[in-house]
Amino acid sequence: MNKTIITILVSTLIANSTLSANEELTQIKQEGIKYIKMLGGALKKEIKKNLKSDPSGALAMGACSSKAGEITENVNKNLPSYAKVRRSALKYRNEANKPDTLDKKVMREYEASIKADTFLPSDIKIVKKGDTYRVYKPLIVKRLCLKCHGEHISKDIRAVIKNVYPNDKATGFKEGDFRGVIVAEIKK
Ligand code: HEC
Repeated sequence: MNKTIITILVSTLIANSTLSANEELTQIKQEGIKYIKMLGGALKKEIKKNLKSDPSGALAMGACSSKAGEITENVNKNLPSYAKVRRSALKYRNEANKPDTLDKKVMREYEASIKADTFLPSDIKIVKKGDTYRVYKPLIVKRLCLKCHGEHISKDIRAVIKNVYPNDKATGFKEGDFRGVIVAEIKK
C-alpha cells in the first residue's frame, strides 16, 4: 500500500469514529424529543380539552392535578424500558417534580440565557450522567399558562392550589418567563 492510501484509510477511520459519536448524540436527541413530545402533547391535550369546557380554568386545574401524574405514568408505560420522561422546575408545584442537582444546573443555564437575551426555544440540552443521557427541553410561560401559574389567579383556582399543593412555588410567572423543563432520560 502506498502512503497516500494509508493516509486516506486512517483519516477515513478517524472521520468515521467521530461521526458515529455525533451520530449517537443526534439519535439520542431525536429519540428524546420524541418522548418529550409524547408527554408534552398528552398534557397539553388534557388542559385544552378542559379549558374548552370550562374557560375559568377550575375544571382544568382539577383535572391537571389529578391527572398529570397518571398521564405521565401512561406515557412512560409506552416507552422502551431504558427510557423515561418527566417534568421539572426550579419553582415547582408538585413535589414529584422536584429537580435534582443536574436538573437545577441545566435550568439555571436556561434562566441565564433568557436574562442575557440569548435564549432560543429550540435550545435542547443533552447531558450525560453515568450511563444515562438526559435530553432537556425548556418550557416558556405562554398566555395559556397564566390562569394557573400567573400573577393574577382566580379565587377558585387559588383554592385548589392551596388545598392540593400547600407548598406551591409555581405562581407569579409572566409571559416569556422560564417555567421549567421536560426531560427525557435515555439509558445507553
Ligand atoms: C389549568 C391549570 C394549569 C394550566 C393552564 C397550566 N398548568 Fe402547569 N401545572 C398545573 C398543575 C396543577 C401542576 C401540578 C401537577 C402536575 O402537573 O404535576 C402543574 C405543573 C406544571 C409543571 C411541572 C413542574 C411543577 O411545577 O410541578 C410544569 C413544567 C408546568 N406546569 C408548566 C406549564 C406550562 C408551560 C403551561 C402553559 C403551556 C401550564 N403549565 C399550564 C396547572 C396548570
